[in-house]
Amino acid sequence: MNILVVAAEVAPFAKVGGLADMTGALPRAWSEEGHDVAVMLPLYGTIDVEHYGIVKTSHVVSVPVGYWTEYAEVWKGFLPDTSVPVYFLRSSEYFDRKGIYGYHDGFEDNDRRYLFFCRAAIETAKALGFQPDVIHAHDYHTAPCMPMLATQYRHDPFYAHTAGVFTIHNMAFQGMYDPVRAMEFGGFPPSEFYPQSWYEHHGSFNAMKAGIMFADKVTTVSPTYSQEIRWTNEGMGLQGALQKRAADLVGVLNGIDTSIWNPTSDVHTAVPFDVRTLAKKAVNKRALLREARLPSGAEAADLPVIGMVSRLTEQKGIPIMMRAVWDILEQRRARLIILGSGMREYEDFFLRAEERFPEHVRFVKGYNEPLSHRIQAGADLYLMPSQFEPCGLTQMYAMAYGTVPVVRSIGGLADTVTHYERSTLQGTGVRFHDYDESAVAYALDHALGLYNDEPHWTQVRTNAMQQDNSIGVAARHYLEVFSWARERHA
Ligand code: ADP
Ligand code: GLC
Repeated sequence: MNILVVAAEVAPFAKVGGLADMTGALPRAWSEEGHDVAVMLPLYGTIDVEHYGIVKTSHVVSVPVGYWTEYAEVWKGFLPDTSVPVYFLRSSEYFDRKGIYGYHDGFEDNDRRYLFFCRAAIETAKALGFQPDVIHAHDYHTAPCMPMLATQYRHDPFYAHTAGVFTIHNMAFQGMYDPVRAMEFGGFPPSEFYPQSWYEHHGSFNAMKAGIMFADKVTTVSPTYSQEIRWTNEGMGLQGALQKRAADLVGVLNGIDTSIWNPTSDVHTAVPFDVRTLAKKAVNKRALLREARLPSGAEAADLPVIGMVSRLTEQKGIPIMMRAVWDILEQRRARLIILGSGMREYEDFFLRAEERFPEHVRFVKGYNEPLSHRIQAGADLYLMPSQFEPCGLTQMYAMAYGTVPVVRSIGGLADTVTHYERSTLQGTGVRFHDYDESAVAYALDHALGLYNDEPHWTQVRTNAMQQDNSIGVAARHYLEVFSWARERHA
């Protein structure tokens, strides 16, 4: 199959969150299964062209925008250690800037930037002679590829048999644009925008809704989330649209790229280990404590370390964990090492905690890929009390590294972590249900109780490490969905 992936983030070139991990991992997996994959990504100003060996091609593609034409330069690189081409579309006007989406509220012209990118991606595939069987778009940024394919390109023999598959990674961001601008920049007839139309939601152009309505198949990143977005507020207002497409909506659980997230071969960690050499995890723990400038002597290393690597937003449940974590620190029952950035009030909380418990807390503000691996390898527990979580990858990384996840049982967290039971010795982590402070406190207390309680501590970590969450399963599930989608245009 020829698969064209169009995305606003692809690891390792441009990453804000898990979206990038998935768009980096899936193409590699499909290509290993013998499929032809091409990836399209904007050439953001922050991408290190030299480092990744990205070079300019001779292609300059004409991109219809409204009633005029703009241009995209095509640059080319490869996903690391693969032969999967990544085409970087360059437009100095839209992408030569610092940042991917722009801080806080995003760049003012994000509507125009991504509508341009979608159209440019479809034009570029044609210019390159890469005829996709499937265009796979991700999240609101590239959702407009779906209506573009269905209404502007299907009549073109080149795209007559191309199916459109749209994957929702997060319903919280929908791309609500000014309709006059969006319909024009997207090349959609203004008359197609009216109340209840496939582009409209509460008076705005809604990129996510258009993606959902025009795609041949819609997927989201876990089975539980695929239900939550239909039946609960997690649909963020688009429950109706999702109900209409219910027959074509599939939950495809994310997986992890074990060529990158693997405790036996991780280039960022102190020592490799696997389930048979779990004791070596202690070496990684001490290295992490040293790096965090926390006490790391034998006695100090006895205290459990709670790790977190996260965008610090409400989604990640920071408000409900503050009190429980503070109490535990006050009782000196654990250490906390957290890497992330985001909302000011959450950053301030971790700074305060660090100031108050200098020997127990380290908050590293910012984005740091190598450190994120060392936290996964060195921590004992991984806390993820999300308010909502479409899938979540970090709890899966934690499990792969024998770090016990403490999660709220919603979305993808419910699909990937099972609660450890002492009576059956089954389970891969600690789960709690309610979104409140006492539930987190109870779960953390339970998790700290497991620590040092042998044989359970070794058992839960072994179970976690033995769970197979590798990307191959997800990749094959997508291929099945692609085949169903293609039946419509055979
Ligand atoms: P989300 O996409 O909602 O942020 P996921 O768990 O799916 O959550 O994916 C988050 C990804 O981003 C993981 O690869 C995680 O390691 C990474 N990440 C998040 N914050 C940071 C950070 N501050 N430094 C390095 N990596 C980070
Ligand atoms: C989104 C979600 C996260 C998911 C990731 C990759 O960012 O918040 O839960 O794991 O996409 O699909």
